[in-house]
Amino acid sequence: MPERGRFITFEGIDGAGKSSQIAAVVALLQARGCAVEQSREPGGTQLGERLRELLLHEPMHLETEAMLMFAARREHLAARILPALDAGRWVVCDRFSDATYAYQVGGRGLDRAKFEALEAWVHPGFQPDLTLVFDLPPAVAAARVVASGAAPDRFEREQLDFFERVRAAYLERAEQAPRRVRVIDADRPPETVRAEIEGLVLERWFA
Ligand code: TYD
Repeated sequence: MPERGRFITFEGIDGAGKSSQIAAVVALLQARGCAVEQSREPGGTQLGERLRELLLHEPMHLETEAMLMFAARREHLAARILPALDAGRWVVCDRFSDATYAYQVGGRGLDRAKFEALEAWVHPGFQPDLTLVFDLPPAVAAARVVASGAAPDRFEREQLDFFERVRAAYLERAEQAPRRVRVIDADRPPETVRAEIEGLVLERWFA
C-alpha cells in the first residue's frame, strides 16, 4: 500500500491571487517526486463542473446554494479526492469546505449549525492536511478582479461589505484550527507570497 497522499487547499476572497500560486505549489511537489492532482471547487468532476455553472450564474436560495456546494463536494470526494489520496497521490485544490463556511455562513449568513450538519454528513472526520488562506483587504482584491477584465460571476458582483464578512470568517476558521489553516498575507508581490508558501510546504513535509 502506498503512503496516503496529502490534501492541500487554497482559500481566500475573490481576487486574492490563488491561481498562480497553486501552479507553483503543484510544480514544487512534482519536482519533489510527488504525483499530484490539481482540482477546484465547486467543480472537479463532470457533474461538479455542471453544478459550478449553476452556482456561479443562476440566482438561487442561500440554502440551495450551500447544499449544491456540498453536493458537488460529495461527488468530488467520492470520484476524485479520496481515490487519489488512497493511491498515494497528492491533491491540490482551489477551495473546499472552508469556502462554504466563509462565503455561505460568513458572507450570506447561513445558519452555522446547518453548515456543520452538512460538513459532518459529507466528510465526517476529514479535513485538508494544509489550507492556505490568502488574506488581503477586499478593496485591493476587488481592484484585481476588475483589472483581470473577466466578466464577474454572481459572487464577484458582491459588495465590499460581503467580502469583509467572508474575510473575517476565513480568519475565524484559521483561529479555530491554526495548524491546518495558515493565513498568508496576499497583499505583497507574488514572488514574496510564493517564497513563503514554498517554505511552508517544504518545512512541513520535506525538511
Ligand atoms: P473561484 O474558485 O474563485 O474561481 P475563479 O477564480 O474562476 O473565479 O470562484 C468560485 C466562487 O465560488 C468564488 O466566488 C467562491 C464561491 N464559493 C462559495 O461561495 N462557496 C464554496 O463552498 C465554494 C467552493 C466556492
